[in-house]
Order: sequence, then C-alpha cells, then structure tokens
Amino acid sequence: MSLNDPVNAPERTGAAEPGVGFAEPSATTAPKTVEVPAALAAEGIPTRFACFVTGTDTEIGKTLVASAILHKLVQRGQRACGMKPIAAGAEERDGELHNDDAAMLRAAGNVNLPQHITTPFMLREPCAPHIAAALEHVTIGPVPIMTAYAEILAASDATVVEGVGGFCVPFSDDFDSADLAVELNLPVILVVGLRLGCINHALLTAEAVVARGLVLAGWVANQVDPAMRFVDENVAALAQRMPAPLLGRVPRLDQPTAAAAAAHIELAGLPGWPATRT
Ligand SMILES: Nc1ncnc2c1ncn2[C@@H]1O[C@H](COP(=O)(O)OP(=O)(O)OP(=O)(O)O)[C@@H](O)[C@H]1O
Ligand SMILES: [Mg+2]
Repeated sequence: MSLNDPVNAPERTGAAEPGVGFAEPSATTAPKTVEVPAALAAEGIPTRFACFVTGTDTEIGKTLVASAILHKLVQRGQRACGMKPIAAGAEERDGELHNDDAAMLRAAGNVNLPQHITTPFMLREPCAPHIAAALEHVTIGPVPIMTAYAEILAASDATVVEGVGGFCVPFSDDFDSADLAVELNLPVILVVGLRLGCINHALLTAEAVVARGLVLAGWVANQVDPAMRFVDENVAALAQRMPAPLLGRVPRLDQPTAAAAAAHIELAGLPGWPATRT
C-alpha cells in the first residue's frame, strides 16, 4: 500500500474544488457542520481521517487544535495518533528527551508508539528547526518521517500531524514544512492565531497550501491574543475570503486543554471523519 494511496489521502486538486465548503461571511460564531464535497464524496474518499495541522505562525495554537482533534477522534472510538515529526526544543527527563508539543499530542491520542516514531526528529535547541538540526549535525529529510508515518498508519485509525511554525518553515537546504505536507499528501487544517496581522498571514498561507496542490480542508480561528480588538470583524473578513470552511472558533481559554478546545471545533463532514458511535 502506497502512502499516497487515495484510500489514505484525498486527491490533490491543484486548487480548491468548486463548492468545497467555501466559508460564508456570517460564519463567525458557532462552528458549522461542513458538507463532504461532492468531488470527494465519490469513490476514492479516504476511509480514515488524517490531517496536517499548520498555522499562521509559531505559538498560535497548532498543538492545542491538533490535540482537540485527537480528543474528538478518541471520543468517537478511534485509535488516534498524533505526530510531531520535527520538534525543536527538548530537554532530558527520566532518560528521554521531552518536548511539550509531543507530550500534549501523546496525551490527547490513545496510541502508544515509541517517541522516535511519533517524533523522528527530536531536537534540543528551541529555535528554527534547520538551525537546531545543524547544531546536532542532523539533516532533516523526508525518509525517516515517511517511514515513521507508515508505522503510525499501521497502528492507528486516524492521524493528526502537527507541522512546525508556519507553513513554509525550512528544515534543510532542500526540504521545508510545505514539502513535508506534500510528501504526506494530507488535507491541511490551518490554525489562524487571532492577532493583528492574522488576516494577511492566513490568506498568504491558504494561497501557499493551494499552490502546493494540497486540499485546504478548513481553518480554525484561535484567540491567542486576549487583548485583540475587533475580533469578530477579523473573523468575518477571513470567513469571506478563505477558500475553505471555518471549522470553529476557539476563545481564550482559562484552561487550554484538548477537551476545552474540542468543544469549539466541528469536523463532521470532513473527508474520513468518523461517525459518532451509537
Ligand atoms: N485559545 C487559547 N486559550 C488560551 N491559551 C491558548 C489558546 N491557544 C493557545 N494557547 C496557549 O498558547 C501557547 C501556544 O499554543 P500552542 O503550543 O498550541 O501553539 P503552536 O502553534 O503549537 O506553537 P509551536 O509553533 O511552538 O508548535 C500554549 O501555551 C497554549 O496553551
Ligand atoms: Mg506546537
């Protein structure tokens, strides 16, 4: 079975499909249920859920949203596994390298694979990944990641892969975060960290995702900046312009846990999303 088998990943379209859940301008409050796009609902629709979570920037809620998605998958009876292929910022704890993102994804999922599978590149220095890798004389490349991803696929029903920083973060001279998303060929969920400047960051990221031939499955508005003004207006401006549906709006949470964030996200209707167990 190829990793790029359409059973595991939706077809690359080169552009957003006509009618693929274009967000409506009014979608600023409760998350809406999105329709399975007709083109994907036909034969070839992925039978398992998998996505690549990217963001408008670093520290804007990718891990929180990825964990929330895993939480929902577990609630639906799935064997759900998070993957943070590259983590920059790790310290030794009990003889193993610890990274907060990797730990949160692991806690939100329910598949216990060794850390070298869920995070093949665990780097110590909390800095840009290509710099952290160079410090350890490591070259970040796709082969170890795709090998580990195949093991995750075999051990799980659903997978959530968290990117690093924004969509175009370099990993080496000839491999970056966008290349990784293309290798994985997963639908992309974009987390928009709501703060001044996020409209431009979100629209540029959406363009980059579509330009890489990937499906932008949806976006999540996450209120990272508690002091941001005109939040509703910003979300409305994005909802009018983003070529994908708004999957939810996560408010500033007192306790930013996977469960708390999950209550604000609706993924029903996305390709491969499991039906609720009765
Ligand atoms: N809606 C929210 N309410 C409260 N705190 C939040 C919210 N979203 C994110 N945070 C907090 O902001 C910080 C950054 O969030 P998170 O780690 O999810 O970002 P990230 O995009 O994954 O960052 P990185 O680029 O380092 O992977 C975390 O401490 C998280 O708990
Ligand atoms: Mg993170």
